[in-house]
Amino acid sequence: MTMVRKFTERYYEPSEHDAFVALVNDVKKSNYLPRYHITPKAGLMNDPNGLAYYNGEYHFFFQWYPFDILHGLKHWGHTMSNDLVHWTDQEFALIPDQEFEKNGCYSGNAIEYNGDLYLFYTANYKVANGKIPKQGLAIMDKRGYIKKLDKPIIDHFPKGLSGELRDPFVFERNGQFYMLLGGSKILNREKRKKFGDDGVLLLYRSQDLFNWEYQGEIDLPIDRGYMLECPSMITIDGKDVLLLSPMGVEPTPHHFKNRFATVYLVGQLDIDNLIFTVDHWDELDSGFDFYAPQAFYGKDHLPLMSAWFGCGEPHYPVSEKWKHGLTFTQELRLKDNILYRYPVQSIVDVFDQKMEINDNRDSFPNRYYHLHLTENFNFKIGQMDDYWEIIYNKKNSLVTLSRAGLKKKIDESYGFSRFAEISALSEIDVFVDNSFVEVYLNKGEHVFSFVVFQEEKDCLVGDVEAFSGSFSTIELS
Ligand code: FRU
Repeated sequence: MTMVRKFTERYYEPSEHDAFVALVNDVKKSNYLPRYHITPKAGLMNDPNGLAYYNGEYHFFFQWYPFDILHGLKHWGHTMSNDLVHWTDQEFALIPDQEFEKNGCYSGNAIEYNGDLYLFYTANYKVANGKIPKQGLAIMDKRGYIKKLDKPIIDHFPKGLSGELRDPFVFERNGQFYMLLGGSKILNREKRKKFGDDGVLLLYRSQDLFNWEYQGEIDLPIDRGYMLECPSMITIDGKDVLLLSPMGVEPTPHHFKNRFATVYLVGQLDIDNLIFTVDHWDELDSGFDFYAPQAFYGKDHLPLMSAWFGCGEPHYPVSEKWKHGLTFTQELRLKDNILYRYPVQSIVDVFDQKMEINDNRDSFPNRYYHLHLTENFNFKIGQMDDYWEIIYNKKNSLVTLSRAGLKKKIDESYGFSRFAEISALSEIDVFVDNSFVEVYLNKGEHVFSFVVFQEEKDCLVGDVEAFSGSFSTIELS
């Protein structure tokens, strides 16, 4: 009997090739494609997975439903680069074609071991009353050949937890391997109101990356929501920096206004006592379209990060055959326990055509540019009837980003404004890559990541003084 799969449960097989190529050709005609961000050739891209500098090259994997702009059956896509600017697409790394991962190859990370790259992922497996959590492993060799194990490496879950356990993040410490997993105790929002947080962070240990022993829950002194997704950790200047994506954090007037939140915690993970001692923590991004960041070490052990340029299931006011992508790769730094992030130098260098803008009626030569501002922190970008805006209120130490002035309104249900609290603002860097915009305050003390759908060339709208910008004319094939 042939199995009939629902549309959202299609996975890539050679028989899908022609339909897929037609979609890819359609996407090439899009008016909104960024040039320097990673976006899907077709379909929907979400979390970055398995980010690694391996065998002299950058390997980025990502969550991908290739056939439509919705959260269908997740594959892992794969792309490679030498410089984090020019990427060579490798198409599919993991296709959910096995019974134990029948509901998708979900997120995870990668580490190098014995010359190979080990790719950890969640094998999503639904049953009638929920999920049975399973964690999978695939191994990539230096030729790029990927072999998936034919059964999960973890196929059980600790008592008292729901089946929502996922997104393995494996790292090495003191000669042992550890895995973080995100999860939830009881996935029930009503109960959560009564009993408090249910999001949990679990730790497993292994000597060989194949056999894993449960260690327990890590104590975290923050609002963990009802579910924690995509844990990731990196050590910078001797401090542990933990990135988490909690679902269900209560919004405050200036924070946590997206459907799902991301936070960073700076401190120390006491791995034997399962406690994360926090020196400082904050929301990670102040924009609208950001989630599931993953940290990793690049060339020369540089601490780097990229995230999903999207969050949840926002409604976008355009009909496109592609959706979302990844943020720029950013270099991470700590200053007074605050996490700074800024695009790696090779990305900044792409914007190399310096230009003075002397008059606010001047339109920019293209939609790929970097503006550096050291004063006039109130500005609008676009056209009089179609702009986004930054408003700086020095007295309240508040920077507001507003998308209310855009002609094509985006995801109205979550509001039009986002905020960053900043005690002293000395510079702003704006990177516009067509529909993907990243705005950095004080070289990355706070960042707004967000999408806009504008078609005209941009101008500075309103009463602004002359300033300089850098434009890119480099076309990437
Ligand atoms: C986060 C997430 C992960 C999951 C993946 C599925 O965006 O929900 O928890 O592994 O996306 O695509």
